[in-house]
Amino acid sequence: MTKKKGGLSTDPYKGVRDFYPEDMYTERYLFDTMKDVVEHFGYEEYSASVLEPSELYESKTSEEIVNEQTYSFTDRGGRRVTLRPEMTPTVARLVAARKRELSFPLRWFSIPNVYRYEKPQRGRLREHYQLNCDIFGVSSVEADIEIIFLAYELMRAFGATDNDFEIRLNHRGVIPETLSLLASKNNLSFPVEKQGDLLRLMDRKEKMDTKKYGSAVRELLGDELAQIVLDNYNPKNVRKLIAETESGKTFLDILEKLEKRGIRNIVHDPHLVRGFDYYTGTIFEVFDTSKENNRSLFGGGRYDNLQDLFGGDPVPTVGFGMGDVTLKDFLETHNLIPEYISTTDLYIAPMSPSYFDFAATLAQKLRRHDLTIAVDYSGKKISDQVKTANKRHVPFVLVVGEEEQKTGMYKLKQLSTKQETIVTEGQVADVVFQALD
Ligand code: HAM
Repeated sequence: MTKKKGGLSTDPYKGVRDFYPEDMYTERYLFDTMKDVVEHFGYEEYSASVLEPSELYESKTSEEIVNEQTYSFTDRGGRRVTLRPEMTPTVARLVAARKRELSFPLRWFSIPNVYRYEKPQRGRLREHYQLNCDIFGVSSVEADIEIIFLAYELMRAFGATDNDFEIRLNHRGVIPETLSLLASKNNLSFPVEKQGDLLRLMDRKEKMDTKKYGSAVRELLGDELAQIVLDNYNPKNVRKLIAETESGKTFLDILEKLEKRGIRNIVHDPHLVRGFDYYTGTIFEVFDTSKENNRSLFGGGRYDNLQDLFGGDPVPTVGFGMGDVTLKDFLETHNLIPEYISTTDLYIAPMSPSYFDFAATLAQKLRRHDLTIAVDYSGKKISDQVKTANKRHVPFVLVVGEEEQKTGMYKLKQLSTKQETIVTEGQVADVVFQALD
């Protein structure tokens, strides 16, 4: 804790981040790349307030999020309010509110800030930004395929190669159907009322040790059925069984079409569940394959019934949420974060305060040439002003004093190469842009 004697702590609230200009540079890179990719796929941006009525989350999302992770409070008018822990119920609300006017299919995206009261750790904070992309109004597999393809293209746009990540795929219908089939092939039946609990257990499987997982499954299903599930519910067997199930046919179609479209790093993970209750079909998660950061990066899936919340007709929907925290961890692990460059092209350093006016007027004229310019009004020595420019990674410095004012000729210095060019006012922009190109 950073606390000066008698002062407040300068630390941010636990589990949230401050963004200094260099952090914002990276953040902006993430958001710009995200926007660029999704807009190329025809997605349109929407937004909404971070405050939502608490009821929005209470029936159809995730028990863990609602009971343990929401930031909720009662406002001065007695309304229960929640800081959104995810964007999906919000976007479903927006669609429900204008369903008649909107022309489906919709391709929508947003990059909201979302809040979850979690134990802060690597990849898990109490606030993060999350790119949300969703297609509304398409029930065919083409939408599932596009969404997964879009997730893949985003990873590629950030410089990831196929070896750096893996897309794990499953289907909410395939899980119970294969479990029932497995049970019936062994002359047993799978108890429907236990499905929800088994799915929750599967969701935690990766974090549990094998023995603990085994005993929890035994406790839930009884020894006989549990043994069958534990012995046979694995990728190889499930792959054989799914072709016999109804949802399996859709699932295999999606898998095959994605492979045909050139995605090679996709695997069927029969234990992938995803924590939300609203998923109804395809579910997927993108994983980092590196040993140092072997974790889920982001995920999503199909949710065709969330419009129930608002009492309207169903709208088939598929989408995903890509968090900036996990994405940044991935990019750092794979050395894919671009080096910081200042958004300022040129730093004007006046020889003394008597040249401030001249410097300001020159800056204003040069800005019309589309240059980004800061003038140093500190009154410090030129060498110190240059140091400041250097520290801020501003690529060019131009000193103004008596000589410059008299002649209209300027010494433009590129700090990285130390190269100096004598230019007129009209030439500054050309030299800078040429060097930065
Ligand atoms: P989610 O898996 O809960 O899904 O979150 C999506 C992504 O947000 C995660 O994979 C991770 O990148 C990031 N994320 C979640 N919680 C945290 C946290 N505490 N700290 C940092 N990053 C986090 C959803 O939220 C779904 N609503 C996504 C969706 C959209 N499904 C369909 N459409």
